[in-house]
Amino acid sequence: MDKSQAEVTLKHYQKKFQKYGVDARSLSWAGKGAAHQRFRAIWKEIDFNNKSVLDVGCGFGEMARFLHKRYDNVKYTGVDIVPEFIQEAKKAHPYFDFECIDYFNNPMPEKFDVVMASGTLNSNLGGKNSAFREKAVKVMFDHTKKALVFNMLGGHPQPENDPKSNVWYADSLEVLEYCMSLTRRVVLRANYHPKDFTVFMYPVKRLP
Ligand SMILES: C[S@@+](CC[C@H](N)C(=O)[O-])C[C@H]1O[C@@H](n2cnc3c(N)ncnc32)[C@H](O)[C@@H]1O
Repeated sequence: MDKSQAEVTLKHYQKKFQKYGVDARSLSWAGKGAAHQRFRAIWKEIDFNNKSVLDVGCGFGEMARFLHKRYDNVKYTGVDIVPEFIQEAKKAHPYFDFECIDYFNNPMPEKFDVVMASGTLNSNLGGKNSAFREKAVKVMFDHTKKALVFNMLGGHPQPENDPKSNVWYADSLEVLEYCMSLTRRVVLRANYHPKDFTVFMYPVKRLP
């Protein structure tokens, strides 16, 4: 995502927030259930107890709410490009850290046990979607100590894309191939939604 694409993303979500306020529709979800369905696929695989967690594109911090409720000793940081979302997330979850940044262009230096991005890599950036998403996955994986998890709209075979749509469906096997060029320890979960998939990536320990 170059700076102008980040600006488009920011404006897109700010417009939605002006219309819907603190509501799943401001995050481009059909409803809260759509976000929760993705979260369930994530916590089937990841144990968040005693982990530092970075949530890239955290929105209002909905995942933070579950992490606080379901797990012990989670050190959570949520980042989002939209200042209004971060302001609301801070109000709703004062016990966690939130920062307003464009993570893919300006990642913070520190690494986290678990890095996650739910719904963050779905936008149609017009022609450069695969290249942007590969860069985004690499940036997140470079900041991961134990596990990176992200989801995307798409599947295999790749669902048809409408160039005018705000979202872009990925080919899950192309994404998987890219992820496997970074680590051989990868899980693809594509059993919870007809047009959404989740990838888990684990760094390979160096051989002595
Ligand atoms: C579909 S919403 C999902 C929000 C949240 N993860 C959830 O599931 O409720 C995608 C979020 O990613 C954020 N986002 C997109 N690009 C970003 C970037 N470069 N840096 C930080 N946040 C970004 C958007 O602002 C938006 O809040």
